[in-house]
Amino acid sequence: MTKETPVEGKELEGQVAVVTGGARGIGLAIAQALAEGGARVALVDVDGPEAMASAAQLPSTGHKGYAGDVTESREVVSVVERVEAELGPVAILVNNAGITRDNLLLRMTEEEWDLVLAVNLKGAFNTTKAVTRGMMKRRQGAIINIASVIGLMGNAGQTNYAASKAGLLGFTKSVARELASRGVRCNAIAPGFIKTAMTDKLSPDVVEGLKSQIPMGTLGEPHHVANVVRFLAGPGAAYITGQVIAVDGGMVM
Ligand SMILES: NC(=O)c1ccc[n+]([C@@H]2O[C@H](COP(=O)([O-])OP(=O)(O)OC[C@H]3O[C@@H](n4cnc5c(N)ncnc54)[C@H](O)[C@@H]3O)[C@@H](O)[C@H]2O)c1
Repeated sequence: MTKETPVEGKELEGQVAVVTGGARGIGLAIAQALAEGGARVALVDVDGPEAMASAAQLPSTGHKGYAGDVTESREVVSVVERVEAELGPVAILVNNAGITRDNLLLRMTEEEWDLVLAVNLKGAFNTTKAVTRGMMKRRQGAIINIASVIGLMGNAGQTNYAASKAGLLGFTKSVARELASRGVRCNAIAPGFIKTAMTDKLSPDVVEGLKSQIPMGTLGEPHHVANVVRFLAGPGAAYITGQVIAVDGGMVM
């Protein structure tokens, strides 16, 4: 059982969830939490072999890893078709795949800008578009976008990342408005600093500096984000859409 799991039981039994960037880090913790809730999980990751290995380690059976690059719309459509043929209709989508290519504005290359926007923002557009027709027909769906506090606060050296995550929040609210009457909810989570490969790159000085900005005084763990995803995907969040929930130890309030 995931640490501090707020829900006991299998409230997601019978549902299929797609988690992008699910091979490791926050995405893998999300896949674990949804599997514990009873969902069958498809881990879609640009690193296909790692996604398959991670799927095999999830609690219970019926999960699968898929190679897929969220920036490629045709690839996304064909992965979603395979998931629906092999696991069943997708009821939950978690847009978690994300990257950083940090640089100060004056040094940032067009490639660094384009790549971060392509994965973090266009990727969510591609996957959301690929699953929503089915969700609307079935009048059931929960989409959860993993944004960042950086999209709310900005950060020197991360103009591309901040713009992609702020864009994801606007995307979330617009999708929520478009699909609310069709039984599909869309929410976002804005994690603060969470211990993963993405933050392992930071120097000890930077980590100490970050901790001083966090009222709770420590970095978060992937399961802190995953538990909120599980809640937003489930029946307890049936009347919640278009919201942004910060999971950040109080950084943004
Ligand atoms: N770690 C943090 O402190 C933090 C804070 C706020 C938000 N986030 C967000 O949480 C999400 C997960 O971050 P993480 O820390 O677990 O990162 P991570 O680097 O550990 O994992 C990211 C995963 O995404 C996959 N991925 C990358 N590009 C992809 C693509 N084009 N198509 C499919 N998969 C792709 C990677 O292979 C990897 O498995 C990201 O969206 C990130 O921006 C992280």
